Amino acid sequence: MQIIKTIEELQIFKNNNFGKSIGFIPTMGALHLGHLSLIDNAISNNDVVIVSIFVNPTQFGANEDFDIYPRMEEKDIELCRSISVDAIFMPSVDTLYPSGIDDEVILLPPNKMASVFEGAIRENHFSGVLRVVLKLFNLINPTNAYFGKKDAQQLLIIKKMVNDLFINTNIIPCDIIRDKNNLALSSRNTYLDHASYEMALKIPNAIQAAISLVMANVLESKQIENAAMECLSGLEIDYCNVVDFNLEKIDQVKKDSSLLIIAARVGKVRLIDNCWF
Ligand code: PAJ
Repeated sequence: MQIIKTIEELQIFKNNNFGKSIGFIPTMGALHLGHLSLIDNAISNNDVVIVSIFVNPTQFGANEDFDIYPRMEEKDIELCRSISVDAIFMPSVDTLYPSGIDDEVILLPPNKMASVFEGAIRENHFSGVLRVVLKLFNLINPTNAYFGKKDAQQLLIIKKMVNDLFINTNIIPCDIIRDKNNLALSSRNTYLDHASYEMALKIPNAIQAAISLVMANVLESKQIENAAMECLSGLEIDYCNVVDFNLEKIDQVKKDSSLLIIAARVGKVRLIDNCWF
C-alpha cells in the first residue's frame, strides 16, 4: 500500500495505474466499520482503491471541533493496509489549499439544499465539503466514489454537484453501518461517555419507530415525526423531519424518494441519523 502525501506522488501513482478503474473513498480518518464498508464496496468493484484521509478545515465552523477532531493516522494506515487498500492520500492543508483557505475560488451549493438542516446549524459547511470533494475528484479522477447514507444531506448535495458540473464520477451511496445496539457508527461517538451513550440509543430507537410505521403503511409525515420525537424525549432535537431528495419537507412519505433525518444533541455531542424509505 502506498502512502501518498503530495500531488506529484499522486500523479505518479495514477500514471502507474493508467487505464484501471479507480474506486475512491474520501474520509476524515478515525476510521471505523462504517468507513470500512465503503472501502469493501470499492475493493469489490474497482481495479484500484484510494482512500483519502484529510480533516478538512473549510467544512468546520469557527466554534466546531476541528482542533479536537479525532486523528489516528497510524491506526488508520494499518487498518487500510490490512484490507489491501492500494493507496492512502493524506495531503497537508497547504497541499490541498495552496492559495490559503480564505483566498481562493469557493463553491456555493444551492441555498435550498444547503442552508437547511445541517446547513442551518453549520454555516458554510457544505460549501467546504464541496470544495474539498471537488479538489479530490479533480486530482484523483475516480471512476466510482463511495459515500455513506449516514450523511444524507452531504450525499444528496454531492450528487447534485456531480450532476450540475458534469463530473465524470459515479457516486455510490452505501448503507449506514450500526453498532450492536443500532447506534450509527460515527467518529464523534468517541466523545460519548457511558451515560451519554445510553441516552444516544434513543436515536436508533426513533429511527426504528419510523421504519415500523412506514412498514405498516403509515405514510403521514407528521405521524412519523411525532413517533420519532417521542422516542427522542430527553434529548435536544435540532430537527426530525421527513424530506424528499431535495431536502424539502413533505407531508407524506414517498417510497424510494424520501427519508427521515434526525439531528439531536446528547449533552455536548451532536449526532445525526436517518432512514431512507
Ligand atoms: P467522514 O465523516 O470521515 O466520513 C467519510 C464517509 O464515511 C462519508 O461518506 C460518511 O457518510 C461515511 N460514513 C460515516 N459513518 C458511516 C456509517 N456509520 N455507515 C456508513 N457510512 C458512514 O464525511 C466526511 O468524512 C467528509 O465530509 C468528507 C466527505 C470526507 C469531506 O471532507
